[in-house]
Amino acid sequence: MVRERIRLSSLHDRIMSADQAASLIQDGMTVGMSGFTRAGDAKAVPLALIARGKAEPLHINLLTGASLGNDLDGMLADAGMLKRRLPFQADARLRAAINRGEVMFIDQHLSEMVEQLRSGALGHLDCAVIEATAITETGAIVPTTSVGNSASFAILAERVIVEINLAQPAELEGLHDIYIPKRRPAREPIELTKASDRVGTPAIQIDPAKIAAIVVTNQPDSATTLQAPDADTSAISRHLITFLEREVLAGRLPRHLPPLQAGIGAIANAVLSGLKDSPFTDLELYSEVLQDSAFELFEAGKLAFASASSIVLTAPMMAKVMPAIANYRDRVILRPQEVSNHPEVVRRLGLIAINTAIECDIYGNVNSTHVNGTHMMNGIGGSGDFARNAQLSVFVTKSLAKDGRISSIVPMVTHVDHTEHDVDVIVTERGLADLRGLAPRERARAIMENCLHPSYRDQMADYVRRAVARGGQTPHILEEAFSWHTRARETGSMLAAPAQEALSA
Ligand code: COA
Repeated sequence: MVRERIRLSSLHDRIMSADQAASLIQDGMTVGMSGFTRAGDAKAVPLALIARGKAEPLHINLLTGASLGNDLDGMLADAGMLKRRLPFQADARLRAAINRGEVMFIDQHLSEMVEQLRSGALGHLDCAVIEATAITETGAIVPTTSVGNSASFAILAERVIVEINLAQPAELEGLHDIYIPKRRPAREPIELTKASDRVGTPAIQIDPAKIAAIVVTNQPDSATTLQAPDADTSAISRHLITFLEREVLAGRLPRHLPPLQAGIGAIANAVLSGLKDSPFTDLELYSEVLQDSAFELFEAGKLAFASASSIVLTAPMMAKVMPAIANYRDRVILRPQEVSNHPEVVRRLGLIAINTAIECDIYGNVNSTHVNGTHMMNGIGGSGDFARNAQLSVFVTKSLAKDGRISSIVPMVTHVDHTEHDVDVIVTERGLADLRGLAPRERARAIMENCLHPSYRDQMADYVRRAVARGGQTPHILEEAFSWHTRARETGSMLAAPAQEALSA
């Protein structure tokens, strides 16, 4: 079985234990690991490293595709082993260590980190640890459930450790399309004009001499948990689908819609699931992650093709999809994240990008990352890659957070990830604001009327009225712009005093 997965027989003598392989990684090194939204992460070498890190000084700079599964980010943070971490994470304990200032976290566009690595701006990559389905006869590495940055890590690293995971179906081979842009100034266009185009090779070709160690594992990806759609996420989904139907009727979008991108999390997943009951057929995804909703849409006969960089599923969906993955080979492509998220391709395909906001302001600026302007949640991920370049950039959020104590629509966002120039549509469970063609004062009205929760309507109307009286293209009362956030910190709620009193009466 192992020999069938490692088809270049000259590499068989490099099979070793995870501890032996991990000993190649020394204190102070920069390491690139496979793994993207919990999918396709290395399973054994990181654990061996963590065990060593508890016994001896061992600090690394860790680069990945995106978040790791199997609690690895949390365990690495607990062991105090991370000097630097980029470009994304989604773990509560690592988040806390970042916000304590113990881990230097660089929150970066997912398509872009590897460009900086390639150019040398992030220093030298000492070692890559890549989970693989197989190594081919030529020594090429076949990734598993994510491609992420694995190809570039393998190409750029001084040495490569491969984890062959027998629990990942061998039939994953053939799903991947590995295309790595040439170095500038020899860069050429990515010849990808449809979500289903293949432009690369099925595996990551490197010099096999660079493969310093092979570790055999047998452990599935950690499953994700998704909150089931609730009344609010279902309402968001309905508003958006109604809007898309109207855009088609008006001739502004094609009947089968342009390819869709949907971000991580419960809301984006619910929106895609909602398309099952919509009139749309022959849909395509050109996204970075395929969640359960993608496979529900396949099952419902609504989805014709899905391109992404990873597949992350709940346990029941994983049990259904993974044994049958061969059936998806002509309907799914997994690409490097710099291709799945590439601005050139996103703009050319004319994507509808659907991402989630933590908060939006009345002019359409979006904060996706920082609670109260200071505390990191997860990171920008791919949302900026898509929002800036999509044909239609949609942000979704519930109008309230924390049982109504927080309004997700605020006078001014405390951190800007997506500027008003990159945001076309905002949707909450209350309704949808189409911001295209609207000037800031018109945007404020559209967002207040359609997206804001009624419990915050009076205080927002009051703020906007007084701001407009001061004048300006984008009216604000700067000394008050963050007063809602300040009030929440001091009283636990953004609601103005009279509304709080009314609520508690
Ligand atoms: N102020 C404070 N906290 C807020 C908030 C606000 N305005 N809005 C949401 N939150 C909190 C929620 O209460 C929740 O907290 P909890 O974990 O303590 O329960 C948390 O943020 C997550 O919100 P939730 O409503 O569960 O949504 P989600 O799981 O869909 O996550 C984002 C929302 C924005 C955090 C998430 O989508 C994200 O990290 N996005 C950035 C990356 C991205 O967009 N990638 C897209 C390409 S894949």
